[in-house]
Amino acid sequence: MSTQGSPSFTLSRRGVLAAGAASAAIGGIPKEGESVPPLPSPATMPVSFSVNGKPADLVLDTRTTLLDALREHLKLTGTKKGCDHGQCGACTVIVNGERINSCLSLALQHQGDEVTTIEGIGTPAKLHPMQIAFIKHDGYQCGYCTPGQICSAVSVLSEIRRGVPSHAQADITARPDITNAEMRERMSGNICRCGAYSNILEAMAEVAGAGA
Ligand code: FES
Ligand code: FES
Repeated sequence: MSTQGSPSFTLSRRGVLAAGAASAAIGGIPKEGESVPPLPSPATMPVSFSVNGKPADLVLDTRTTLLDALREHLKLTGTKKGCDHGQCGACTVIVNGERINSCLSLALQHQGDEVTTIEGIGTPAKLHPMQIAFIKHDGYQCGYCTPGQICSAVSVLSEIRRGVPSHAQADITARPDITNAEMRERMSGNICRCGAYSNILEAMAEVAGAGA
C-alpha cells in the first residue's frame, strides 16, 4: 500500500526524523574518535529453588524468565520456547503443583519454589503414564509442543480431581467431571501447530480412565 500523499504519514515521519536529529545534536551519539562509555552491568540477584527435586542456586540478571533460567542456565532444554509471550503453552512447567507458562514468570519470583519440568515428569527408562499414553495414541508429530502438552495434561487431570472449576462447567460450584469438554477447555492454552489435539485427548482419556 502506498503511503505517498498521506498527510498524516508524512507528518509523522518528519516528526520522527526531526526527533532523531535533535537527539544526535544534543550529544546522544558519540562523535568519531570519541570513546564510548561502557554500558552499566545488568542488576543480578541470587535465587534458589528446586527443579525436579534437585536444588538450583543461581545468580541471575533480574530480568531472566523462569523459562530462560531453565533452558539457558540449567540446560533443561525439554521445556520449549514457542512464542515467549504466554500464547502457546510450549513453556508449561509445574510450580508447587500448579502449571504455569514459564515465559511469563521471572525466575526471581520462584525463590524456594518446587519446579517440575518434563525431565522430572518421567525419564526414558521410567516414563510417566501420560508419556506412555502420548506415544500409544500418537499425541504428537513434530514434538515441539509436547513437553508443554504433557505437563499441562498431567496438571489438568490433577485440577479436575481436586475440583478446580473451569469455563466448561455450567455450574462452577459443582465438582467437575473428567469429560472431553473439560479436558479440551483446560488444554486450550496449549497450541499444537501439527494439530494432534484429538490424539492428545485420547491419551488423556486413557490416563484418566486408568486413574493414574
Ligand atoms: Fe511461553 Fe509460548 S513460550 S506461552
Ligand atoms: Fe508439532 Fe504439536 S506436535 S506442534
